Amino acid sequence: MNAELSYNNKKTELKVLEGSNGETAIDITKLRNETGLITYDPGYQNTGSCQSAITFIDGEKGILRYRGIPVEKLAEKSTFIEVSYLLIYGKLPNREERAQYSQQLSINALLHEDMLHYLENIPPTAHPMTLLSNMVNSLSVYYPGFYVENYDNATFHLMAARLISKIRTMAAFCYKKSIGEPFVYAREDLLYVQNFLNMMFSSPVKSYELDPDIIRTLEVLLILHADHEQNCSTSTVRLVGSSKVNLYSSICAGICALWGPLHGGANQKVIEMLESIQKSSLSPKDCIERAKSKDNPFRLMGFGHRVYRNYDPRAKILKAYCTKLFKKMKTNDPLLEIAMQLEELALSDDYFIERKLYPNVDFYSGILYRTIGIPTNMFTVMFAMGRMPGWIAHWREMHDSLPFKIGRPRQIYTGSPLSEYVPIEKRT
Ligand code: CMC
Repeated sequence: MNAELSYNNKKTELKVLEGSNGETAIDITKLRNETGLITYDPGYQNTGSCQSAITFIDGEKGILRYRGIPVEKLAEKSTFIEVSYLLIYGKLPNREERAQYSQQLSINALLHEDMLHYLENIPPTAHPMTLLSNMVNSLSVYYPGFYVENYDNATFHLMAARLISKIRTMAAFCYKKSIGEPFVYAREDLLYVQNFLNMMFSSPVKSYELDPDIIRTLEVLLILHADHEQNCSTSTVRLVGSSKVNLYSSICAGICALWGPLHGGANQKVIEMLESIQKSSLSPKDCIERAKSKDNPFRLMGFGHRVYRNYDPRAKILKAYCTKLFKKMKTNDPLLEIAMQLEELALSDDYFIERKLYPNVDFYSGILYRTIGIPTNMFTVMFAMGRMPGWIAHWREMHDSLPFKIGRPRQIYTGSPLSEYVPIEKRT
């Protein structure tokens, strides 16, 4: 199927590509050569940057699938480690594959001890996202010799295992550093999520009791963050990786992109917003009014999404987990109450209805992280830990796809057409 473009009295045929769920796109790769035109799309709101077989989203219907499997099914039945394998290798692992993969993760759990000197010399007030991105980038110092031109499968498996395993150690060590406690190393007898909780919350003077409901909640949080197709951080990993820099540096760039409050940093901002409602005289209704006001830059954090024009399926699952976990723990969090009030008000308000703004994954994830005991400034680190398999899968898919092209958008230049060079003594 083709689309026809008419410009300057000349008709140009452009190929139309079709995805496996029927979504269509005009292939404009030949547009410039044939017409001299480029396309203009600030914020890439309507630009397909690649073809991908990893994750499918239908934003209108609120559907999210990894490798074709509904995320609801994975959240119910699977583990983060299985899901990471699914994303990176394209299938759920069988028993043998899962055992081998787990073993690879165990072997790679340690950080090079020299890396700990870096942590020693950082102020405890540093945001853990800075530490995390720096440590991930520095993996290329400790594990050099990997170049994109000549990597083979075995090297890739090793790098993927290193990143997935070590980010957990880095995250836990960043936290220990911030509270001034000694680092707790991974144990071979514990699984991925259990190990992380133990590394975070046990110490030489107190053991940490692993609770199956907390473990499952964290497992689900990580599964739901594991991939989300061409979002800002994943597109960054692809763009940076397209220069053929190594995987560690590409992922470091993704971590930096994730940190912003419009992306993964929103989970921290949601809790700060809910706390400020709790502490101040601002009511949820005032908050909604502020978010609607054109004169106020305030936004309802954890609401709205570039792709979803419906309830984010991840938020739906996490909201149910909040209720379930509080019931089981026989506790409550006043912030959940405030969040639910905000949601109810927003979903019945014309401003949010017209713009199709619904809660996104970050609206309820922070409340769960708080309940698990994870401090607010670690929330985006948790998102990064969950997103790691997605970033790796996209980096690999891009390098394996042909034709391989460096990412390089164009622009419409609006500056001075031609300016004269004025010597300094004549400048005004
Ligand atoms: N509160 C109030 N108004 C909003 C919000 C919000 N959270 N989100 C969008 N709008 C309004 C926006 O002002 C605009 O209104 P108008 O048409 O009158 O100018 C309209 O809705 C469209 O918004 P946009 O900014 O053009 O949409 P976008 O696709 O560029 O931005 C977004 C998407 C997620 C950055 C935005 O919704 C937002 O800032 N949300 C709050 C931050 C947040 O929760 N981010 C986490 C996203 S999910 C995690 C992830 O995957 O990154």
